[in-house]
Amino acid sequence: MDTPKVYKNFINGEWVESQSGRVYENRSPADTKDLVGIFPQSDARDTTLAVEAAAEAFRRWRLVPAPRRAEILFRAAQMLQERKDAFAVGMTREMGKILTETRGDVQEAIDMAYFMAGEGRRLYGQTVPAEMPNKFAMSVRMPLGVCGLITPWNFPMAIPSWKILPALICGNTVVIKPATDTPLSCANLVQTLADAGIPRGVVNLVVGSGAEVGEALLAHPYVRMISFTGSTAVGRRISEACAPSFKHSTLEMGGKNVILVMDDADLDLAVEGALWGAFGTTGQRCTASSRLVVDKRVYHEFLDRFEECVRRIRIGNGLDPTTQMGPLINQSQLRTVQEYVQIGTQEGARLVSGGNTLDDPDHACGFFHEPTVFAEVSPRMRIAQEEIFGPVVSVIPCDGLDSAVEIGNGISYGLSASIYTQDINRAFAAMREMYTGIFYVNAPTIGAEIHLPFGGTKETGNGHREAGTAALDTYSEWKAIYIDYSGKLQRAQIDL
Ligand code: UN1
Repeated sequence: MDTPKVYKNFINGEWVESQSGRVYENRSPADTKDLVGIFPQSDARDTTLAVEAAAEAFRRWRLVPAPRRAEILFRAAQMLQERKDAFAVGMTREMGKILTETRGDVQEAIDMAYFMAGEGRRLYGQTVPAEMPNKFAMSVRMPLGVCGLITPWNFPMAIPSWKILPALICGNTVVIKPATDTPLSCANLVQTLADAGIPRGVVNLVVGSGAEVGEALLAHPYVRMISFTGSTAVGRRISEACAPSFKHSTLEMGGKNVILVMDDADLDLAVEGALWGAFGTTGQRCTASSRLVVDKRVYHEFLDRFEECVRRIRIGNGLDPTTQMGPLINQSQLRTVQEYVQIGTQEGARLVSGGNTLDDPDHACGFFHEPTVFAEVSPRMRIAQEEIFGPVVSVIPCDGLDSAVEIGNGISYGLSASIYTQDINRAFAAMREMYTGIFYVNAPTIGAEIHLPFGGTKETGNGHREAGTAALDTYSEWKAIYIDYSGKLQRAQIDL
């Protein structure tokens, strides 16, 4: 057997072991015999070293002209492009999603690198007329300092890139703690940034648990903002921990996204979209289409066609090009899915497809679960309200657009929603009425592009957005500047 590769933390420009020397194994969720690598199990001491390195590096990095910072990001984008296939294979091994999807994940990081590199020559502020003669007024962005970034396992490179790259272009330095299930992809991104020329201390990576590394980031006074993507429960904890010291926090949390299928929808298109939205990434996206609200006039026809396609989904190791759906990320996520299948059955929903864990010889070494469809789900059932984060979809009948919108909005989350209809009036009405951060017409709820704001309302977020130029607002503070060149005191609002 090959000796497993040992990975380290990246602190102050060097790959270093954790202070304690503790390590853990990163194994493939499709095949637990496949050891992806050995990673450090870091703690508060490693986190402190990383934060101190980032604070020191901030003194210089904030003064590097943004177009120069951008050149490094451009180089990183090109290098990621060259490394795309290799990084995708590593990501499929550690995360489980199929190769076409992991290539997409790396592509999202490439797109973000190009986009944020472009921002290096913009970072637009405002110039506005001043109220008084011989006076100039403008606003500019300032970096915050050290940013603590805590990322999930479902988009192991894309989400770190959404956080690291806008932070860097604004002049911040970062300490990132990736999910312990998927540290390799984040390490690959950080190595690429280092290879592209990011100076020492500007990007630091500490691998370890939320309880040790995450908490240490929350507690450290040098960390001026936390950007987190993950569960609503952890997001709430972060928000509370940041409050006493007024650390900024940007939280991207749960979703229970809905596709509204109207009676005039192109049903083939809706079925295809629902399949991708519900079972892409094994349902493990915060944008996953976990509810299908279908007009009763086409409900049975939609369900029949949908169910038939679901049965044909090929489940297996994502490295096999014929696989369409990979495993769950780990045992505990598989257990959660099993529990929700039980809950749905007990609540009286009709299990029309799936419902089982796969343990035949081809699947026994991984965390595989069948794509599962519940029908005749009523909107208040737990399977229609709670985020499952797995391949389980609830099909809910409705009666027309108003009832669809009411059901669609009747949850505690507000990330993404979509409508399938041929009627432009309905499409626009739903676009206005759905209280979500993302909305699609004739497409499923997944697949956001990186140059528009990403995030949601209600318990999905805390009012911020990632990606696009909106991300710049979370990684900078505004400074309003007034320059009086009249040579005399001019009192605003008084000397009119
Ligand atoms: C997530 O599910 O956490 O819009 C992110 C999408 C992807 C990103 C999903 N571009 O589905």
